[in-house]
Amino acid sequence: MVWWRLIGRKPDIAAVRNALLRGEVRLLTLLGPPGIGKTSLSLAVARDVQAAFSDPSLVIATIAQTLGVQETAAWSYELLDAGEQTLFRRLGVFAGGWTLEAAEFICASEGIATADVLNLLSQLVDKSLVLVEERADEMHYRLLETIRQYAQEKLSEARELEHIALGRPFLLNPL
Ligand SMILES: Nc1ncnc2c1ncn2[C@@H]1O[C@H](COP(=O)(O)OP(=O)(O)OP(=O)(O)O)[C@@H](O)[C@H]1O
Ligand SMILES: [Mg+2]
Repeated sequence: MVWWRLIGRKPDIAAVRNALLRGEVRLLTLLGPPGIGKTSLSLAVARDVQAAFSDPSLVIATIAQTLGVQETAAWSYELLDAGEQTLFRRLGVFAGGWTLEAAEFICASEGIATADVLNLLSQLVDKSLVLVEERADEMHYRLLETIRQYAQEKLSEARELEHIALGRPFLLNPL
């Protein structure tokens, strides 16, 4: 397979490459039916980004570490109380982090009152599931990407996405 003969994959190559070059992305899995072109796409991207990944011996260690993070997330999630679990999985919708105001607006819905968001969020910070940093004069919260993927899985299992995101999609981008 020669990558430059791939037909119609330029946007996919760019999307996968950009995801891989983001520092917090440790592992990216391509899924699809047999023969759809997963391997071809991977090879095309690998050729594109090989200069940025110079040490192949890191690959296995990184995969192990990344999968470990997900297991840790599952373990921590099981120990949360119901309110914390609900907020945690809803926070999975924020691709680039969020502020308190945004979390209150997006996540307070069935099962969580607006007034409870700060308290629940602080508990998730204490339990190291949510990271926090002060930017300008505002607290900015985020999830590690692997943790966020886990939150999204839980969100989709709970079938809550329509409560929180679909009515308010305009807020999801700028945050
Ligand atoms: N975008 C494309 N342009 C041209 N040929 C392609 C493209 N994508 C895949 N092919 C061809 O289709 C065939 C299957 O592709 P590939 O092996 O990458 O799929 P796969 O999803 O990895 O398959 P598998 O599920 O068996 O692992 C190969 O012969 C490959 O060269
Ligand atoms: Mg393949």
